[in-house]
Amino acid sequence: MGAVWLTPVFVSPMEDNGYDVADYYTINPLYGSNEDMDALIEAAGQRGIRIVMDLVYNHTSDQHEWFRESMQSRDNAYSDWYIWRDAKPDGSAPTNWRSIFGGSAWTWCESRQQYYLHTFAPSQPDLNWENPEVRQALYDIANYWVDKGVGGFRMDAIPYIKKPPVFKDGTPDGVDGMSDVHAMTVNTPGILDFLHEFRQQVQDGTDIFTVGEANGVGPDDLPDWVGSNGVFDMIFSFDHLVDGDNWRVEKQWKLTDVKQALTAAEAVTAEAGWYPVFFENHDKPRSIDSYFPEDADPVLAGRAMGTVLLTLRGTPFIYEGEELGYTNVAWPSIDDYNDLNSRSQYNSALSEGYTEAEALSFVHRHSRDNARTPMQWNAEANAGFTTGTPWLPVHDDYTSENAQAEAADPASVLAWYHRLADFRQANEVLCDGDYREVAASSEQVYAFTRENGDDKLLIAVNFSGSEAPVDLTGSGIASFEDVEVLLSSYDDIEATAGTPEALRPYEAIVARIR
Ligand code: GLC
Repeated sequence: MGAVWLTPVFVSPMEDNGYDVADYYTINPLYGSNEDMDALIEAAGQRGIRIVMDLVYNHTSDQHEWFRESMQSRDNAYSDWYIWRDAKPDGSAPTNWRSIFGGSAWTWCESRQQYYLHTFAPSQPDLNWENPEVRQALYDIANYWVDKGVGGFRMDAIPYIKKPPVFKDGTPDGVDGMSDVHAMTVNTPGILDFLHEFRQQVQDGTDIFTVGEANGVGPDDLPDWVGSNGVFDMIFSFDHLVDGDNWRVEKQWKLTDVKQALTAAEAVTAEAGWYPVFFENHDKPRSIDSYFPEDADPVLAGRAMGTVLLTLRGTPFIYEGEELGYTNVAWPSIDDYNDLNSRSQYNSALSEGYTEAEALSFVHRHSRDNARTPMQWNAEANAGFTTGTPWLPVHDDYTSENAQAEAADPASVLAWYHRLADFRQANEVLCDGDYREVAASSEQVYAFTRENGDDKLLIAVNFSGSEAPVDLTGSGIASFEDVEVLLSSYDDIEATAGTPEALRPYEAIVARIR
């Protein structure tokens, strides 16, 4: 059974890529109609594919009728559906919290003479989950889509839904004198009561699956969050991502940090729940650019990432275009970018004294728009995506990097994904086999075994541009003679078989251990 996760497709002013929902019951006409959604669920189902929707439940759009009502007065039917507070005696915001996209997390509302809280942008007011009517409205929406036949939900920004009982200023942690809202409101005690209620009202007794976007939920919390005693089937953890949140300072990362994070995630999810494996999503730049040096061969880099993605223990989430080896864009002006976070980061960089060129270079490297360019289907106008005007320009590599061309090319990144996916289907050990890291201290190679009784595989990926051995010490594999390479990402490049004694630059292998 496969699934396709759609980022939000509900009616939205699209200030934040649809993560600002104005009507949870109606499909955004940009994408189609509710009937189109029914048809998609049906057609996907016939092919053994479930459709997973993205529930944005920490906040709505400020265009949602709930908020439009709520902001009118302090005593209407929706007045308590959002988080309203009076100003401090001097008129300033109730606390010094900085929103995740920058600037105060509070915005003044003239009609109510109060501030409202927004963890993200001002156009994304936070819902008041303490209000049982709000919770019921949200469960009703989820149940409406479950009844339509969706296969599950990704729960957006879910660790922020519970706010602390008392709102206090945090210690300033930046030049703006503010304090990160994340630290003040993430994973607040009591949140699990809400989430258990969601589970009971929406998921129990159905066959849907849930994955939470749970930044700030650590390994120790995992048993409470996932698995039989938890609330979701899986939660995304972000520790292995190398693209830092601070765009001004290039994050210094080592391969051993990434490996440690993945190994730790594998260890905890072996005990509780299950691991959603991912390297890309709509919030991150492309993985080839993040994990590999600029001069790395992008096809080998794409195959290397794909190998790790499809062989770790867990459910692989392949993000649009990752399977085609997409890379970042670098547009000449900030006006070419749509992502509100990129614009906000750009403006903050300028106000901190960086030049326009420097500010733009941060955007080039980190913008979420890197991963939001239209799907490249073929070499025709707009990459065959639309005859209209897409929301962002198509990546200029579309004439060669497109689904049609790659499907016809046995040496493409896509062809490698197909080979690995077929191999995965045929080798159950990749689904349920234990994970064990090999050569943990190597800064060049990520290697691990997957093991189910006598069924044993070794996966090894060279992240460096020079030849590298897999150190078998302590791996349980006696010698290289016991290792038979089944797949190498060089198969169509060089006739000689790969060997784990000397992986070629950026080579990925899958081998049988005898
Ligand atoms: C999540 C989404 C991101 C969005 C934010 C606010 O982090 O993945 O794209 O901007 O929530 O909804």
